[in-house]
Amino acid sequence: MTDARREAPAVARNRDAILAVLRGILPAYGLVLEVASGSGEHTLHFAPALPDLTFQPSDPDPEARASIDAWCAGVANIRPALALDAAAPDWPVDRADAVLCINMIHIAPWAACEGLLRGAARLLPAGAPLVLYGPFRRAGVPTAPSNEAFDADLRARDPAWGLRELEAVSAAAAAAGFGPPAVTPMPANNLTVAFRRSRGAPP
Ligand SMILES: C[S@@+](CC[C@H](N)C(=O)[O-])C[C@H]1O[C@@H](n2cnc3c(N)ncnc32)[C@H](O)[C@@H]1O
Repeated sequence: MTDARREAPAVARNRDAILAVLRGILPAYGLVLEVASGSGEHTLHFAPALPDLTFQPSDPDPEARASIDAWCAGVANIRPALALDAAAPDWPVDRADAVLCINMIHIAPWAACEGLLRGAARLLPAGAPLVLYGPFRRAGVPTAPSNEAFDADLRARDPAWGLRELEAVSAAAAAAGFGPPAVTPMPANNLTVAFRRSRGAPP
């Protein structure tokens, strides 16, 4: 029998710092939809540490979903992974109390970021968080050399990929129905960016 579990080395480096920030952002209980769960190792780390939340991992890649389910099998508060493309107009989830997306919007076309914002706005009640983690550009702030090199590498792999500017993401989030971001600097020149759903229907 083959082992579907994938290993993403960055997860071991960033999971504790992300969990520490999530403790202050996520609701006490309810459903957390994770978009772009990748290997599933973040889900496996967060769910046992936050036992009053239920985690719904997802990824459009079937091999990623197999990895998520292989890592997370038997963990009571993790549901089987869903096929979810952030850019799609319909998601296979009706509601969530929080949406989490780690290291996706720079490794996908801008349409995936816009779709993530619109999709999260459809699911979340007023005040509920959409949490992004990853490297960003910020207007007026020099980008770290390591992030410049990462951006060049991403764009060489796919011209539609690349670091996103926080101000552009925030403007798109506002258009989708979110308030201004709460930004937490993270190790290795990453940010956690938390938007909260505004009152009223998405525009
Ligand atoms: C760099 S990996 C990050 C995985 C995981 N969140 C982590 O930090 O280890 C990027 C993930 O984004 C997923 N992805 C790419 N395009 C996507 C889209 N349009 N909607 C949702 N996920 C997407 C990929 O399948 C991949 O699993």
